[in-house]
Amino acid sequence: MRYDFDTPADRRGTFSLKWDIKDGELPMWVADMDFKAAPEIVSALQKRLDNGVFGYTVVPGEWADAYIGWWSRRHGILYKREELIFATGVVPILSSCIRKLTTPGENVVIMTPVYNAFFNCILNNGCKVLECPLDAEKDYSVNWPALEKALADPQTTLMILCDPQNPVGRIWDRETLARIGELAYDNGVVVISDEIHCDITDPGKEYVPFASVSEKCRRNCIVCLAPTKAFNLAGLQTAAAAVPDPRLRHKVRRALNTDEVAEPGAFAIQAAIAAFDRGEAWLDELRQYIFENKLLVREYLEKHIPEIRLVRSDATYLLWLDFGAFGLGSEELARFVRGKTGLFLSEGQIYGNAPHHLRMNIACPRSAVKEGLRRLSEAAALLRERREL
Ligand SMILES: Cc1ncc(COP(=O)(O)O)c(C=O)c1O
Repeated sequence: MRYDFDTPADRRGTFSLKWDIKDGELPMWVADMDFKAAPEIVSALQKRLDNGVFGYTVVPGEWADAYIGWWSRRHGILYKREELIFATGVVPILSSCIRKLTTPGENVVIMTPVYNAFFNCILNNGCKVLECPLDAEKDYSVNWPALEKALADPQTTLMILCDPQNPVGRIWDRETLARIGELAYDNGVVVISDEIHCDITDPGKEYVPFASVSEKCRRNCIVCLAPTKAFNLAGLQTAAAAVPDPRLRHKVRRALNTDEVAEPGAFAIQAAIAAFDRGEAWLDELRQYIFENKLLVREYLEKHIPEIRLVRSDATYLLWLDFGAFGLGSEELARFVRGKTGLFLSEGQIYGNAPHHLRMNIACPRSAVKEGLRRLSEAAALLRERREL
């Protein structure tokens, strides 16, 4: 290994959302990583910092070229420069697009469990969440009758897809995407494909860019891309909307501009370029490290806490844990585990369709994963006692 993922980085005192917790607690919740960014990115940012002047920034052609190079090399799709629009984040893209492409009271379809901010973006913009629960009994596959009905509803104007899916870590295959794309297109429903997690897949596993699947997909989508999850740069606020269709792209560009989320901060451009042009070796080692963390959790749970079922996944550093055997709801479970052991996991129900699940973020040094598992064992012992009372 060329890069060090084992040495813990001290994040306390940095105003970190994840670490703004009580002393002694172990945060394995919000989706950012406890690893320092790739040295290649840090040195690009250092150079920018050393310049010492932080005025307004433009979005240069090299920024789009970095995305284009990365997606063509790693994911087999060739975006064009003009198809890419800078944005300060994926959630801002979602929110702006909902505002621009729907009128209040219309339905936005999501397949749950899914990233909780999807709910907020839809509700905050006056729309209705039309939930299509994924089939938990079948590896969280699409519930086609529910999805067909939801997309055929004339009140439905938008669907937000999450690929790979946070929190279950599923990568949607080409056939599934083609069917979603066709149903959406035929019903006049635009698809926003949030692909922010696409670069953290298990070694050897590939995701399929929605826009590469078919002409119907390509012409009817807004794709959210970013280096922020894979390279741990969320605080730098740097993302892109890729919109192949020119008319739709015009609307998205207007929306992002009107909402003033299309202007980069002083570090946003350098960070994205350095990640996509020079971050490849770091990322591949990181994926291997995270995969080994996942194997460790799987083996540990099978051996020591068989009541907790780790849902099979192919992507993301987020693990979806089914605590059904303990008979508690997800909110109570999260509170119980945190209160008794200081292990802070995300409560499943915020993602929808998750009655007794918790989400565990394993993007941290192996020593922290081991400590998390130790605390989980402690919680499981108490939960067993409670169940037997
Ligand atoms: C699916 C998904 N989309 C978007 C985001 C956040 O994106 P941003 O920080 O660029 O707004 C997250 C963060 O966890 C996520 O999981």
